[in-house]
Amino acid sequence: MKLFDVYPLYNITPVKAKDVYVYDDAGTQYLDLYGGHAVISIGHAQEHYVQKIQEQVATLGFYSNAIQNPLQVELAEKLGALSGCDDYNLFLCNSGAEANENALKVASFKTGNARVIAFKNAFHGRTSAAVATTDNPKINAPINAQQKVTFLELGDLEAVKTELEKGDVCAVILEFIQGVGGLDEGTAEFYEGVDKLCKANGVFLIADEVQSGYGRTGKFFAFQTYNVTPDVISMAKGMGNGFPIGGILTHPSIEASHGMLGTTFGGNHLACAAGIAVLDVLKSENLMQHVDEISAYFKEKVAEIPQVKLIKGRGLMLGMEFDFEVAELRKKLIYDHHIFTGSANNKKLLRILPPLTVQKEHIDTFFNALKTILS
Ligand SMILES: Cc1ncc(COP(=O)(O)O)c(C=O)c1O
Repeated sequence: MKLFDVYPLYNITPVKAKDVYVYDDAGTQYLDLYGGHAVISIGHAQEHYVQKIQEQVATLGFYSNAIQNPLQVELAEKLGALSGCDDYNLFLCNSGAEANENALKVASFKTGNARVIAFKNAFHGRTSAAVATTDNPKINAPINAQQKVTFLELGDLEAVKTELEKGDVCAVILEFIQGVGGLDEGTAEFYEGVDKLCKANGVFLIADEVQSGYGRTGKFFAFQTYNVTPDVISMAKGMGNGFPIGGILTHPSIEASHGMLGTTFGGNHLACAAGIAVLDVLKSENLMQHVDEISAYFKEKVAEIPQVKLIKGRGLMLGMEFDFEVAELRKKLIYDHHIFTGSANNKKLLRILPPLTVQKEHIDTFFNALKTILS
């Protein structure tokens, strides 16, 4: 059997990883400033995480959501305490798209409406409603066209007002920092204005924190920079440090009912063990404060590279915009300097999404490589 060939692949075969390094089958060490697309939060093969998963799989890896699962309760309590969202409720699933799918579903159930407001250049996933709210016709199939979605310019508060006042909208979904799109952000005035408009019109505000959550921006969630109260918060990537787990946090005003949402695998024992270990390490290693320190250092170093026209993003969710397309630069970084970085819809943007444990010396290695390539 062959693989369904949907991914353009780099010719590298990682076989192991530790903290910020990935090793291929020839023993070459790569510095991971990509985190497998913002997934690695506490570092590859982190000891406490490995131990927790090993113990759990040897004890009880899975049972269904029809029984008591104290690990879900522990995860919810630790997540509430660390995120500051302890009055929200937690529903667990398996991926970012699924988190958004459930977030949109809750909004639609509760408002009785079906139309969604999303923003240009947004990315919310590849499943039914999530992909329909993603501004990329190439990954939307005809079957996804049944969803009612209106795309607006990020920052156009007047347009949000006009659309919400039509009375048929269930949710506004947004990334407070656009990831795949290229690190664009709205202003505080815009985000806080959207929040107020949602509340005035009985529309759900969904914060897609799949990429920007779990400390990546230095705050637990990126929306926490602003004075906003999302109705639903979706999460995934950093949540399991590579173990597939996602979830939504629902505002306490949203009442659950049995059967409203459900999943076979979501919140299973093994996934919870991974999720709990991530929260333990984020807290014990004070990683959010560390993110701020390393981010400030990174931004200082960027000033030494005149070819960088703009530095975008926050924390360790960063983008360096050049005045040329970066595909070749990324290849040189990988093949000549053994450093993984990311790309974006904006072809001139190099994305930096390292494990949150990255140190200044790794940032130095990256900038030395960049200087060599650009000189
Ligand atoms: C902001 C955002 N939302 C949703 C998703 C979809 O997550 P997943 O690939 O886990 O379905 C992504 C993935 O890149 C993302 O960046």
